[in-house]
Amino acid sequence: TGHTGLDYGFVNTASTKSEITFIDGDKGILRYRGYPIEQIANSCSYLEVAWLLIYGELPSATELAEFDEKIRRHTLLHEDLKHFFSALPHTAHPMSVLSSAVAALSTYYEGETDVNNPEHVELNMVRMLAKLPVIAAYAHKKSVGQAFLYPDNSLSFVDNFLKLNFGVHSEPYEINPVMSRALELLLILHEDHEQNASTSTVRLVGSTGANQFASISAGIQALSGPLHGGANEAVLTMLGQIRDSGQSVQRFVERVKNKEDGVKLMGFGHRVYKNYDPRAKLVKAAADEVLTELGVTDPLLDLAKELEEIALADDYFQERRLYPNVDFYTGVIYKAMGFPTRMFTVLFAIGRLPGWLAQWRELNLDPQTKIGRPQQLYTGSREREFRRN
Ligand code: CMC
Repeated sequence: TGHTGLDYGFVNTASTKSEITFIDGDKGILRYRGYPIEQIANSCSYLEVAWLLIYGELPSATELAEFDEKIRRHTLLHEDLKHFFSALPHTAHPMSVLSSAVAALSTYYEGETDVNNPEHVELNMVRMLAKLPVIAAYAHKKSVGQAFLYPDNSLSFVDNFLKLNFGVHSEPYEINPVMSRALELLLILHEDHEQNASTSTVRLVGSTGANQFASISAGIQALSGPLHGGANEAVLTMLGQIRDSGQSVQRFVERVKNKEDGVKLMGFGHRVYKNYDPRAKLVKAAADEVLTELGVTDPLLDLAKELEEIALADDYFQERRLYPNVDFYTGVIYKAMGFPTRMFTVLFAIGRLPGWLAQWRELNLDPQTKIGRPQQLYTGSREREFRRN
């Protein structure tokens, strides 16, 4: 009856062709538009990589300067949208705030969200790149009860974001170049990762003809789950629990292996990588460096390293080819920067935004795009005669 086969979790099914990101999971290779992540990570800015992902080539100096300038011009949120934050409890999870605010953002641009109008599509990419960090910082400020700051458009993308998060109203904000560079690196490492769950969500929503705001709001929700982006928050929670339990790391690993209470080693394992996640390698190196440079010592970093060492030497993890993924060490760095744990996945979302936008645009420009509509294998009742009991 036309079924192509049952494939739980889409382990064997390609949903699209794409020219954006290449992964070889067995070898631990990740490339953006052909460029190895190791080369990109240490020589580009977040916006330069965003341009590369979206348009396929590295921008010229002029293109990058114009792009940067355009984004700076669009950072302000409509004043009315700020009331949106007041309507939510201060305990609201920042991921829920982020996703809802992105959905709400589209209401300010009705009449300008025609997916068949290239000018609208370009403008909304700029709007989203400019405003997502501001919304994210407001979600943070709201959660700690501090006043929102206006964006400072004299600053770079990353510095502006840090100031919006850590600056205090009417006090000068001092830029810390170590923190800026570290955050830029982490954001770059998250920019795209081909057809993961949130990107596939963005594409599925986009395939219906829904606009970028709707698609990305849905993508943020998909990212929030602990098996996906929410893992960076879950890792820190797990490390804290191990520390507070007074139990040994070895004992925790035993619990994972015995699948006691369904406990998993968060930040380990990946659908595609069956080798060390190349992003995790870069993050692990950065964690040591950044904590040293920021003058922070965190016993959770030592705990994470011990956990990694024990897991990698263990048959359970070796047989299943489970290695640390990108989420394993990022939280320790975000924590050292001063971000609350509940902001970690929001940082992932800001990182991933260019990838979502690039993938949405690729879908939008592809003449072969059709509405996404998976099949099912029906296992319910056969036809029955209607009769009430
Ligand atoms: N801890 C313990 N066991 C694990 C783990 C883990 N983290 N990950 C996989 N396994 C086991 C799993 O139980 C299964 O064992 P068995 O064959 O005995 O049933 C085997 O390894 C294969 O795992 P799977 O669940 O079939 O693999 P999957 O490809 O469906 O899931 C995953 C991939 C990332 C969801 C999973 O590895 C996981 O839950 N990891 C923890 C959460 C996490 O760190 N997620 C972040 C992923 S990377 C970045 C991102 O997307 O945000």
